[in-house]
Amino acid sequence: MHDQDMEQKKSKKYEALLKSLEALLEGETDAVAAMANFAAEIHETFGFWWTGFYRVSGGQLVLGPFQGPVACTRIGFGKGVCGTAWKEERTQVVPDVHLFPGHIACSSASESEIVVPVFDAGGTVCAVLDIDSEHKAAFDETDRQYLERAVVLLRPVLTK
Ligand code: SME
Repeated sequence: MHDQDMEQKKSKKYEALLKSLEALLEGETDAVAAMANFAAEIHETFGFWWTGFYRVSGGQLVLGPFQGPVACTRIGFGKGVCGTAWKEERTQVVPDVHLFPGHIACSSASESEIVVPVFDAGGTVCAVLDIDSEHKAAFDETDRQYLERAVVLLRPVLTK
């Protein structure tokens, strides 16, 4: 398949995903419940290696709802890809985790990742969405755009 066809296929999958996430979150007021199904739906749709959240708690990122293998439980501000997304308040797309200075290897199978900051209703980063792939360069601009739209859906359940 040509790159362009693959990107179109991916966009279609994301469009459907956004709709199902919206439906899944409708009426849910508990942040953990919402994040748990949110992570599961993304994970199942794309078959990623690891999909989950780290939540800001006590000045650190603390492991939240996720799908995949056991992961590190705590990450400092500015540490690894997750801590960098938190500090810089912007999405990190990492085509090769081995080339990212300070990458935290929770699993040696992870080759590329994307980390999207999640902002609460007050505009503060309250969590990050971390997705890992066992393939190199699994994430691009299409993933960034759709995942940034997706995490906005969580805003109503996230307290200030
Ligand atoms: N790779 C991440 C750590 C979290 S695990 O991959 C689930 C990082 O460097 O922030």
